[in-house]
Amino acid sequence: MSEYVIDDREMPRFRVSRRAMVDPEVFAKERDLVFNHTWLYLGHESELRKKGDFKTRTVAGRPLIFARDTKGALKVWVNSCPHRGAMLCREPSGNARFMTCFYHGWSFGIDGRMVSMPGDEAYGPDFERPGLAAPAQVDSYRGFVFVTFDPDLEDLRSYLAGATEYLDLVADQSLVGMEILEGSHEYSVKANWKLLVENSVDGYHAVSTHQRYFEMVLAARGSVDPSMLGASRSIDLGNGHAVIAGAPATEGLFGRPLSEEGAQEREQRHAALRERHGKGWVDRMQGNRNLVIFPNLVIVDLVMGVVVRKIDPVSPDYMEVTAWELAPPDEGDELRKQRLDNFLTFWGPGGLASPDDVEALETCQVGFGGVRELPWSDISRGMNKEVTTTSDELQMRAWWRRWNAIITGEVLPPEPKAPLEELFTSPSRAQEPESSSV
Ligand code: FES
Ligand SMILES: [Fe+2]
Repeated sequence: MSEYVIDDREMPRFRVSRRAMVDPEVFAKERDLVFNHTWLYLGHESELRKKGDFKTRTVAGRPLIFARDTKGALKVWVNSCPHRGAMLCREPSGNARFMTCFYHGWSFGIDGRMVSMPGDEAYGPDFERPGLAAPAQVDSYRGFVFVTFDPDLEDLRSYLAGATEYLDLVADQSLVGMEILEGSHEYSVKANWKLLVENSVDGYHAVSTHQRYFEMVLAARGSVDPSMLGASRSIDLGNGHAVIAGAPATEGLFGRPLSEEGAQEREQRHAALRERHGKGWVDRMQGNRNLVIFPNLVIVDLVMGVVVRKIDPVSPDYMEVTAWELAPPDEGDELRKQRLDNFLTFWGPGGLASPDDVEALETCQVGFGGVRELPWSDISRGMNKEVTTTSDELQMRAWWRRWNAIITGEVLPPEPKAPLEELFTSPSRAQEPESSSV
């Protein structure tokens, strides 16, 4: 039996060991077993518009260069000079055909091949010029680019399992493709990274933790009819991925109200999408969803915008977070303004939501100081139910069962639940072609 997860179907009760949140040995195992053998989010294709565009970014402790080469293909390189290690690119982003190491001046093309080295007569004629190193595999799904450091890992699409449907619900929100907007939020949290994974798909905490936000919405709207919140589901998508999905067609329920023109534009956009995808799919799209892709990618599509959040463990009690906003490139001024406003004032590191969450997570980590006296956390909510909603914890259990299987080898079966209703399963009428692969 696992020493970290107790999955008691009899009582029922699901508990997670708090040692998993504080123990450096667990952290080392995660680095090796989880982060070296899963698909990890790197970035979005739209971030590299022109040939030669690049971004530098860290994935699983590796500094990487995410680039579009001179032929337009996506490339990912380890951002370290093959000579003696210096970082080749020290800017967060730019456009270049060549990268020259500032230490001794070795120079490489954006295609990874060495171009020149100063004083190369000091190397023999047979000296093999090294190129840049790359992750074992790079692949993308609907514009989302992932890397893995495991050459034998299954292909990305199989790995994503049921999560592809929810990536589709996000990617289909524009007829011309979605794009990441310029800029990002970067912040850190003095807590174990898994706490933010849990928090990102935790509907249970919203009303108590984010009370101030709901007061603001109430003040802006006069009243909120709670019956409009409608149905919601939490869903195990397989392979550790999970989602909480809010009622279809409830767009506009959260956030500040739109002007008449804004509401009209939104309706026009939806009409065009319905034409392409059918009503059932667009109704679902107009609901909300918090998706976690195992291990550390979160996509929060909460009506007012789409936040892509990458969570990077640094030590057992410290993580770094990067968040981007994903948007239809063709939306009008008011919708864009509301999206950006929401990204800043709700999700931003100084916004109405994130500081509350950071505070909650950091106090959990402090609380884990009492791990010997209180060794277990409880994630049982909704285990006794046939139908689970966003305020249950099925989605976290699905994630933890995958974590547990990787760390301990103990495979726990998924929970039997009632089949989902059509409201949450309507497919798109259009079969989208796959986006360009890498
Ligand atoms: S470390 Fe890059 S040229 Fe020496
Ligand atoms: Fe929150």
